[in-house]
Amino acid sequence: MSESKTPSAPKPPVSGGGLAKRISRRLHGGSAFDGFEPRLPLDLQGWNSQHPMLTRLVKELKPKVVVDVGVWKGASVAHFCKCLERFKVDGFVIAVDTFLGSPEHWDRSRSDGVYESLRMEHGWPGLYWQFMSNIAHLGFQDRVVPLAQSSENAAVILRRLALGIDLVHIDAAHEYEPVLADARRYWPLVNPGGALVGDDFGWRGVKRAAMEFSAEIGIEMEVQGAKWVLRKPPAEAVT
Ligand SMILES: C[S@@+](CC[C@H](N)C(=O)[O-])C[C@H]1O[C@@H](n2cnc3c(N)ncnc32)[C@H](O)[C@@H]1O
Repeated sequence: MSESKTPSAPKPPVSGGGLAKRISRRLHGGSAFDGFEPRLPLDLQGWNSQHPMLTRLVKELKPKVVVDVGVWKGASVAHFCKCLERFKVDGFVIAVDTFLGSPEHWDRSRSDGVYESLRMEHGWPGLYWQFMSNIAHLGFQDRVVPLAQSSENAAVILRRLALGIDLVHIDAAHEYEPVLADARRYWPLVNPGGALVGDDFGWRGVKRAAMEFSAEIGIEMEVQGAKWVLRKPPAEAVT
């Protein structure tokens, strides 16, 4: 589903709390948005980016740290930020993506503009600049820490930062092996009482990986449309 919009007036940046600043300093020496001016008009094209399950999880968990794995142009990141604002949570979002696109995006025969969205220049995608421009247009610079890495490397980086994650959204590659691998990588980083939510349960490989992982950790999965959710028991419930 496409969710493109026209540019709106920039809003003053909002707070993502001191932790966002510290993580930005550790990763980027400051905010990745310092001195950045949007290069492209707002374009929030995405898929299931404003799904009610994402809204519900922010409302319920009040997450300080959200990790969005697979962000494309940032539509789900922006939705998380809007929810954090709406539910008055002093949290922030770490946006993990190679910004190189997924296998299904590298398809020049597609007629839905997705290939063009990669903004290829001499074989190298410029997706990152659309993402950065979108976050800056929306004024969410203080709530977003970009992490331009593979999901695999990002999990290692986040583990080294000893950063407990309250909510992780898995929406990177959609084949069976990478989805299962992402669930296995990010689940141990989720805080007790937190949750892992994935997208595209309708994809055969995603469904298989999600069901297999749910059985592996012995936690019942909740499915609402495209979203599948695994909730980690609170600390006092862990035996
Ligand atoms: C379906 S899109 C994400 C959509 C986004 N959540 C939204 O709401 O619009 C998948 C994204 O995952 C990224 N991706 C695919 N494989 C990846 C990997 N192994 N590591 C990091 N990012 C990856 C792609 O670059 C792409 O931007």
